[in-house]
Amino acid sequence: MNVDDCKRAAAHYAASLVESGMVVGLGTGSTAAFMIERLGERVAEGLDILAIPTSEESAALARAAGIKITTFAEHSVVDITIDGADEVERKTLHLIKGLGAALLREKIVAQASRRFVVIVDATKPVNQLGERVPVPVEVVPFGYEATAARLEAMGAKIIRPRRKLTGELLTTDNGNRILDCTFGPIEDVQALAARLDGIVGVVEHGLFPNMATDVLVATEREVEQWAP
Ligand code: 5RP
Repeated sequence: MNVDDCKRAAAHYAASLVESGMVVGLGTGSTAAFMIERLGERVAEGLDILAIPTSEESAALARAAGIKITTFAEHSVVDITIDGADEVERKTLHLIKGLGAALLREKIVAQASRRFVVIVDATKPVNQLGERVPVPVEVVPFGYEATAARLEAMGAKIIRPRRKLTGELLTTDNGNRILDCTFGPIEDVQALAARLDGIVGVVEHGLFPNMATDVLVATEREVEQWAP
């Protein structure tokens, strides 16, 4: 199995957890896209759900797949959210998310969910968060250079303000910028999350401590189900 087959296997397993009548949070990214596609097939077979997408991209995929969309104005609680991740810490199941730039809506939807199922292939688990990927930090555009300086003063190495493939600065679905911040392996995820939360100009960051209720890790042989 290649990485895409593993992502698909985890996504299909997660989609099988969804039942008629549920409000479902739809994650963002390539693994989540396999899950949306599978849910679309199940909807065509009669599954009756409403979905809250975590990005404009996932909303478009959901519409194309025939999945009905709702909003927090109609439903304040989400039964299950299924989303990918960039790193999963093996012992704690803390996550880094946001390499797809959807971290703010992803965190709002995850926080409102009874169950938050994370789907990954076997390249995503790490011993310590920050080993392989930076922490994406969403900041307001006004004064983002000053916010970047505050982040650097607290120990972040900012690789770059995120840019699109065209070279233009990336704007998130919420009209903000992303600063990818490298801290190296993170000793205390909750303490770093609290420090990031305290910086004016930071809207949200990609550290998701203690949020996943299930992590589905697809290896070459099987889909493992991890719980905190
Ligand atoms: C988007 C995310 C994604 O879930 C994360 O980047 C994983 O993406 P992929 O499934 O493509 O590896 O957090 O903001």
